[in-house]
Amino acid sequence: MNTKSAISSFFIATIATLTLSNAASAAAAGTAAAPQPDPAKVERGRYLVVTAGCNDCHTPLKMGANGPEPDMARLLSGHPQDLVMPPAPSLPPGPWGFAGAATMTAWAGPWGVSFTRNLTPDPETGIGSWSEQDFLATVRSGRHLGRGRALLPPMPWQNVAAMTDDDIKAIYAYLRTIPPIVNRVPEPIAPPAPPAAK
Ligand code: HEC
Repeated sequence: MNTKSAISSFFIATIATLTLSNAASAAAAGTAAAPQPDPAKVERGRYLVVTAGCNDCHTPLKMGANGPEPDMARLLSGHPQDLVMPPAPSLPPGPWGFAGAATMTAWAGPWGVSFTRNLTPDPETGIGSWSEQDFLATVRSGRHLGRGRALLPPMPWQNVAAMTDDDIKAIYAYLRTIPPIVNRVPEPIAPPAPPAAK
């Protein structure tokens, strides 16, 4: 063995030892910090999300061979940040009440423009930093985190609010297990001010 390879084997051995001890301490910290979610609870949450239709609006549609289909690579990540919507069409007076994007993630109506939000566990752009209590408070009150602004249509929060605590907690548990997707959904746009009274 020449000097150069002796030195590199020393470094490889040292790095291997450091990596092993880091892995051991991370494993120890991991067991203390994050208890494993109950698989039955997560499965119940998945079932509720699918059957209650959360994907209809929170997973963007893309065009497939047989027409629009949910883009599973963007599962529950809300209105795509790279899809910048032009101004909403103005509807003629009459019974047509709102307009929707082809993705089913942006909505224009008397409430202005709303965008379906990112429900993945990304901490910055999704709900990764939300506690179970934050999630319960939001869907029970129809307000962001239970104390912020009122949730806009067409979010059917009244339907979710009618679920049992156990079911809402199961949905939360499932949402913690889906892949985190970095996607910053735009803030809603307020409706134009009504014309000033003459
Ligand atoms: C018909 C469309 C639609 C369906 C179905 C739907 N949502 Fe929403 N959701 C929205 C829209 C639009 C928003 C954004 C509202 C806003 O910005 O005020 C939203 C917002 C939310 C928020 C608030 C996020 C935040 O940052 O405050 C949560 C939580 C949520 N939805 C959960 C769900 C769950 C769980 C389901 C299934 C039971 C569901 N949604 C089904 C349209 C929908």
